[in-house]
Amino acid sequence: MNYYYITGTSRGIGKAFAEHLLENPSNYVIGMSRQCSIEHSNYKHFYLDLTDVNAVTDFKFELHSHPQKIYLINNVGSLGFIKPIGKLDAATIIKNYTLNLIAPSLLTNAFIKTYNTTDAEKVIVNISSGAAKSPIDGWALYCSSKAGLDMFSRVIDAEQKVRANHPEDNIHKPFKIFSIAPGVVDTNMQMEIRSASKQDFSRLDDFIGYNLNNQLADTKTIAEKYFRILLNFDSLPNVSFSIKDYE
Ligand SMILES: NC(=O)c1ccc[n+]([C@@H]2O[C@H](COP(=O)([O-])OP(=O)(O)OC[C@H]3O[C@@H](n4cnc5c(N)ncnc54)[C@H](OP(=O)(O)O)[C@@H]3O)[C@@H](O)[C@H]2O)c1
Repeated sequence: MNYYYITGTSRGIGKAFAEHLLENPSNYVIGMSRQCSIEHSNYKHFYLDLTDVNAVTDFKFELHSHPQKIYLINNVGSLGFIKPIGKLDAATIIKNYTLNLIAPSLLTNAFIKTYNTTDAEKVIVNISSGAAKSPIDGWALYCSSKAGLDMFSRVIDAEQKVRANHPEDNIHKPFKIFSIAPGVVDTNMQMEIRSASKQDFSRLDDFIGYNLNNQLADTKTIAEKYFRILLNFDSLPNVSFSIKDYE
């Protein structure tokens, strides 16, 4: 069996990932979010609030018998409040970095620790954003946490290559890791962006335009693209990229 741990499976891109994978009876999906909207014999849901560091630290990856593939997809991410720095309160800043960067770091650390000596295809996929590469006013926490996620992924990739040459680390098969941006996708996140105030977000009209001009991709298409690209992950030249690079 193939096992896929995915955060944020209750809606949006994460739900589309889970539904796409569940079309194949060899796949088993473990979803983590606060709500559950999938019922399937090969789906298990964990209630997990990713802003709660203690709950995330307590999460246990399972030991599966003879897995072929084990994936961790850190999909959850949020803009939080769209406002310039100086207008945010401290609690919002801490919560947003926890959700976008600390939670995926904790899960990735536990994932690598749990499956270090497991003989399977082991892949971590972080869901990034174009905002990791370009500053967007009102999105400081989001841009910087996604940039952090990209670099976190690149460092792990470098570590896996170095550690593969250390027999004392007892790595059976190194982990592959990618940080992949989806482009603009028709989800709740885009609705949140369109409801920002013009005063706090100079690019509001651009995002209203993406919706009016049907430039938002649908989640099913995006999920299919991710897994099509990941099918040949050994040939991918970079850790951090956008799926738009492969259209
Ligand atoms: N949509 C886009 O245009 C776009 C563009 C670039 C990058 N992305 C990235 O794509 C990823 C998915 O975004 P999306 O657009 O699909 O978002 P979305 O529709 O808003 O879905 C967010 C998912 O995250 C979960 N979530 C939110 N807060 C959570 C919490 N505290 N604990 C646990 N789960 C939580 C939600 O589940 P619950 O509410 O049930 O907990 C939901 O399943 C994000 O990383 C986002 O940054 C999206």
